[in-house]
Amino acid sequence: MNVVSRLQGADVLRADQFDRGGLDLILDKARGFARSLERGERLDTMGGQILATLFFEPSTRTRLSFEAAMLRLGGQVVSVADPKSSSAVKGETLPDTIRTVDGYADVIVLRHPLVGSAEEAAQATDKPVINAGDGAGQHPTQALLDLYTILQERGEVDGLTVALAGDLKHGRTVHSLAQVLSRYGVKLLLAAPDALRMPPDIANDLRAAGVSLEETENLQEALSSCDVLYMTRVQRERFADPAEYEQLKGAFVLTREMVEGAGREVTVMHPLPRVDEISPEVDALPGAAYFRQAANGVPVRMALLTLITG
Ligand code: NCD
Repeated sequence: MNVVSRLQGADVLRADQFDRGGLDLILDKARGFARSLERGERLDTMGGQILATLFFEPSTRTRLSFEAAMLRLGGQVVSVADPKSSSAVKGETLPDTIRTVDGYADVIVLRHPLVGSAEEAAQATDKPVINAGDGAGQHPTQALLDLYTILQERGEVDGLTVALAGDLKHGRTVHSLAQVLSRYGVKLLLAAPDALRMPPDIANDLRAAGVSLEETENLQEALSSCDVLYMTRVQRERFADPAEYEQLKGAFVLTREMVEGAGREVTVMHPLPRVDEISPEVDALPGAAYFRQAANGVPVRMALLTLITG
């Protein structure tokens, strides 16, 4: 099967399902859609089709950019944006909800607090299911827009040193991004306090795949040797013990002096929302890419939606 037909009708559940060919195809298509958005073109590629967005955890960027992507493609959207408004609160199981939505929509985007929920949903329907975040598991479409952003900001991905910093244990975006980057010739620096290190199974898979990988507990050290610094929020909602969160939340704070003192041009990324891990005065630096990164969610999700619906 070629790259295009492998994506047709596919679920998007984990970042490691994509090989280099699939990633390059998505990047290429996304670039095309970005150009067409710049030109203000009106598209009808997905005319007559309906996207369902089911969000059982809070979201601003992921849900709105999926919906904007579908609308820009001429399709339509139905949405559960507030879990309290769905029948899940009456005790409906996820497979039953999905089987129902199967009758309403052509593609289903799901965000859910449980790891593995997207796989469970995918088994309940033949329609494509896209994982928009399953607890502390995966967030594959964020990884695609992160990859696209690195390419846009740096001109190439191969050969870069990328530092992933912050809550690497609970942060689903960094789990997915590390896997996507392993398809390119990058060096990975993992910067986290000891309690928030990258889960060993992911780190071991990366090493087994031949990725050059270093771990540090020091943000400054990572900053001084990377091209891209990907900051993340300490994921408060994943802590059973609030005291532990309080103790770790301020572990890494990136300031303007730190970026300016790095002695190299660093691209600063963040999936957002940020709490206080990037000081606002960093925003004005040319390398601060996080709001451009958020905007890239639209063309990248347009690319993905058109590829999986064929
Ligand atoms: C992230 C998420 O939901 O995992 N946000 C996003 O999708 N852009 C990151 C986070 O919540 O910290």
